[in-house]
Formats: sequence, C-alpha cells, structure tokens
Amino acid sequence: MNLDEILKQDKLTRDDLVYLMNLKEEDDLEKLYNKAYQLKAEHIGQKVFYRGLIEFSNLCVKNCNYCGIRKDNNKVDRFTMTEEEILDRAKWAYENKYGSLVLQAGERSDKEFVDFVDNLIKKIKEMSNNELGITLSLGEQSKETYQRWYDSGAHRYLLRIESSNEKLYNSLHPNDHDFKGRLECLAEMKEIGYQVGTGVMIGFPGQSIEDLVDDLIFFKENDIDMVGMGPYVLHEDTPTAKKVENNELLKTRNLNWGLKMVAVLRLLMKDINIAATTALQALNPVGREMALKAGANILMPIITHRKYRTDYQLYENKPCIDEEASDCKNCLAARVATVGDEIVYGEWGDSPHYFKRTAKK
Ligand code: 5AD
Ligand code: SF4
Repeated sequence: MNLDEILKQDKLTRDDLVYLMNLKEEDDLEKLYNKAYQLKAEHIGQKVFYRGLIEFSNLCVKNCNYCGIRKDNNKVDRFTMTEEEILDRAKWAYENKYGSLVLQAGERSDKEFVDFVDNLIKKIKEMSNNELGITLSLGEQSKETYQRWYDSGAHRYLLRIESSNEKLYNSLHPNDHDFKGRLECLAEMKEIGYQVGTGVMIGFPGQSIEDLVDDLIFFKENDIDMVGMGPYVLHEDTPTAKKVENNELLKTRNLNWGLKMVAVLRLLMKDINIAATTALQALNPVGREMALKAGANILMPIITHRKYRTDYQLYENKPCIDEEASDCKNCLAARVATVGDEIVYGEWGDSPHYFKRTAKK
C-alpha cells in the first residue's frame, strides 16, 4: 500500500504505523501533517487550549537517568515556591483567562508534601470560583493520595510511562524505579475518575522506530485521554547523556521523530488531547507551532516567575527561561495565529475522548 492509500484508511495496522514513522521525503511528511491537522480540525476544531504550567519545586526523590533535576545532581539549586507565590501565579492564570493549570514538581510523597498540594488545590478552586481546571503532574503516589487530591478538585493527572517497553524503561531508570508500579498508578487514576494523561520520551539512546510504534499502540490500548510526549533532549550532568554519540544528529532526528509521533498519534486517536511540548521548542524555535500544525491541540505556557525558571532545567536549552509570564502570553498568541488556530480562553478544554470513554460504561 502507498502513502495515499494508508492515509485514506480509518484503521491503521502496526505495519502502517511503522511505514508512517519511517517517512522521510518532505512531500510525504507534508501529506502526513496535513492529514493529521485535518483530523484535528474535524474532531476537536482548529483550536488550542492553554494549561498554565507552574513548576513549583525542583526537589525530587527520584534519580531518572536522563533528567537534569535528578536527586544526585548536586549542581542544582533546589527551591520550592511558597503557597503564596503559587496562588499568585494561579490568580494570574485566572485573570488572564487560562482555563486550566498544571501543577508540576519533582517527585515527593511525604506527608508534608501531600498536605501542601491538597491545600493548594482547595485554595486554587476557591480563589477561582471553581473555574480553573487543575491538572497534576506530580509523579507516582499512593491510591489514597490520588483520591484525596481528586476529592479536593484536581480532575486530570499526567504521568508519563517514558517508554512502554519494560526493558527500555529499566535502561532509563535505576533499579529502585518500578515499571509495573507506574502502570498501576495509571490504572488507579482511571478508577478514581481522573482524565488520564501519559506520554513517552522520543529518541533516547537505545530506542528504535519500532519501539515508538509500540508506544503509540500502548496509548491506544490503554484508552488514554491525553498525551504529552516530547523529544529526548540531552542534559550534560546525567548518565544518559554519556550514551549520546552525536548530539547534533540526535537533535535533528528527535525533532523529526517528535513531530511524526504527534501526527501519527492524531491519525490513531482522533479525539484525544495532544500537547505540543516545550522540549520540541528546545530543538527548534518554532517546534511547538510545528506540532500544532501536525495535529497537537494543547499548549502549556510556563507561568512560573522568572527567578525560578533557571533552576527547573530537565534538559539543555530549555526555552523561555528569561521571560516573564506576560511576555510568554503575547509571544505565544502571535505564534498560534501563524498556524491558523484559535486560542480558546476560559474553558477547561477537556478531551472529548474522556467523555466518550466514560459514557460507554
Ligand atoms: N529530555 C526530554 N524530556 C525529559 N524529561 C525529563 N528529562 C528529560 C530530557 N532530558 C521529561 C520526562 C518527564 C517529564 C517531566 O520531563 O518525560 O516525565
Ligand atoms: Fe524527578 Fe521527574 Fe526528573 Fe525523574 S523526571 S528525576 S521524577 S523530576
């Protein structure tokens, strides 16, 4: 089957996915991205939803081999924003009509942290008359904690599986990290009623196109509501960086793979939320806009104050660390307009897939 025939099909086989992920010619890629954009327009609309991202602490108990803020990296100045500072940013998001927030931080599960987050969720809900949607991205927690945060008002949770292949997952993490435990977390969130998001890193050392196709199939089989996946980007002070042979080649390839993953996922899951992630922008100044053109529909502008941004570097060349939130707002709006999408203000922008999934029950 040729490309035109594959793009006309409603159901894609594993072979089709491999074929699409291997496309190289400019014309073919153009066709793929256009098809993905057309499907987004049909199923979601030519729309972009914002999630104001607050990266409120870089303290982390984990030691993921690829990540710049891993516990053992002692070059990092550790910070945690105060409740007041976080609420100030949430208020900014509310006043600027960002429909939702993402609260993200390094992983901790001690009681003090769990209480702190719980309290924050309640206060953000109260401050915004229940209007701000809250997504959490705070790693692996107990089912009780997920439940507690859900009861307090968070309704979406992001936890990346990083790779759906257990062997590769293990190659990215020290021995005390647990692949099956992570899968259980995703199942628990779903049971509780969260809209569940996951994702992978694209193009880390040792991963192939076939592995990425398996990741796409994993999202589909697990009926995921939202996906945030981005290219692997090197961070010098990490073990994974030592496995990278040629960083320039890696960057070009990973931008390319990252965009193809977005487009092929849109073909596979037409009604889910797909984020245009910041890591794409680390590889190309307009990487996120390219992803919107290839079928993504979510942007997560960082709204943390400038003074904290430099200390939250998961990978090199992270964009926007010298900006304030208001600069980002104007800059992003101009960029989205170039794609032809409309920014939807003041709505949660839940994934249509979630409603279909839960209505089926
Ligand atoms: N490159 C790309 N993404 C990274 N993350 C962490 N380190 C890197 C890196 N070097 C991503 C992981 C994690 C998310 C918070 O950031 O996928 O889940
Ligand atoms: Fe911690 Fe997340 Fe980085 Fe892993 S990826 S070291 S859990 S911040």
